[in-house]
Amino acid sequence: MNRRTQVGIIGAGPAGLLLSLLLARERIDSLVLESRSRDEIEATIRAGVLEQGTVDLMTEMGLAERLQREGAVHHGIELRFDREGHRIPLSELTNGRAITLYPQHEVIKDLIAARLNQGGHILFNVKDVYLSDVTSHQPRLQFIHEHEQMELQCDFIAGCDGFHGVSRVSIPEAIQTVFSRFYPFGWLGILMQAPPSAEELIYAYSNRGFALVSTRSPELQRMYIQCDPQEDIANWSDAMILEELQLRLATTDNWQLRMGPIIQKSILAMRSFVTEPMQYGRLFLAGDAAHIVPPTGAKGLNLAVADVRHLAHALALFYRENRTDLLEAYSTTCLRRVWRAEHFSWWMTSMLHRFPDDDPFQQRMQRAQLDYTVRSRAAAMSLAENYVGLPFDW
Ligand code: FAD
Ligand code: PHB
Repeated sequence: MNRRTQVGIIGAGPAGLLLSLLLARERIDSLVLESRSRDEIEATIRAGVLEQGTVDLMTEMGLAERLQREGAVHHGIELRFDREGHRIPLSELTNGRAITLYPQHEVIKDLIAARLNQGGHILFNVKDVYLSDVTSHQPRLQFIHEHEQMELQCDFIAGCDGFHGVSRVSIPEAIQTVFSRFYPFGWLGILMQAPPSAEELIYAYSNRGFALVSTRSPELQRMYIQCDPQEDIANWSDAMILEELQLRLATTDNWQLRMGPIIQKSILAMRSFVTEPMQYGRLFLAGDAAHIVPPTGAKGLNLAVADVRHLAHALALFYRENRTDLLEAYSTTCLRRVWRAEHFSWWMTSMLHRFPDDDPFQQRMQRAQLDYTVRSRAAAMSLAENYVGLPFDW
């Protein structure tokens, strides 16, 4: 069976779904192909921090009704080290900007509902997506849907299929430059049924390694501890995780972690990755398909949003005014922000984790950086500006 659309979108993550909605606003037709089921993508636990710009964009697009109601606006974060907490007043340092805690899978639910409500097309459970004629004016996507072989003719393809997708690997290796770094640690993440232990996120550096206290709702808390990336999660009993969190977060004023049943736990690897350019012919990569950041800066989802905002704008000008300059500049435009976020995420990761091969000198360097960040208004402002998110036209 053959179909046609203006923009074929691979992947119904934040990047693919938001792109389909941005394009619809410009009356550009698209079709989203997603390899997993709707239930699965709506249940996958991932990021939680939305930058001010992401929230503003969703609000402007009429997608933020539940986000405004259920999301929690945070005006600061805490950096904790040497058993003392230090507040970074994000909003005070950034002219009132803030972050919102709202889980990624709730964003996904809202975007899917909004797109389907407009009569938009998302095909779930597609298999064997294959890209062809990407350098021509009529690229094609072949795939299997409900046991039927299908072909989608497009003007453009948006590769929004995450790090393990097919889009990036369809670009010849010879024209790609890949930059990557693996970190010698992972994060063990848990969801715990308990009230919040703090009003704001806590990023803790300790001799035993990094710990992060985040939240999902008044009843559900999200926490992470640095661990060996090869570790089997089965080796971590709930009691061990809770003890480790308490040890890493302990303060001189006897701060207490509020605990409850752990209902989910998993280990994620940490890496930095960028491929350049983010375009090949009429294939445009967006989000994790093109770049990965370690989660310490909470940038992954927000970068995906920034990419598709640029892409939708460039496509709109192509269809409206036959302009190709913004499409040609897409990769360069996105990469400026991508590399800023890569640096910020690497910097936060390097400052806050214990490295297996570190020595007393490196530990003193980390302490000096932490101390400077909490004591100097200029340094705290730099962290805050990056954390709440730089403007889209950065
Ligand atoms: P994805 O969200 O990965 O979406 C890609 C979609 O494409 C998926 O639904 C996938 O099923 C689909 N797909 C893949 N291959 C194909 C194919 N061949 N055909 C069709 N569809 C395909 N960021 C943070 O800021 N904080 C965090 O705590 C955090 N935790 C994370 C935990 C995990 C386990 C992972 C993997 C990522 C995490 N991130 C985190 C990063 C953040 O979630 C991502 O940056 C964000 O999801 C990127 O959105 P995306 O739309 O580019 O990609
Ligand atoms: C989360 O809530 O999942 C979260 C928060 C901050 C981060 C990473 C993850 O830096």
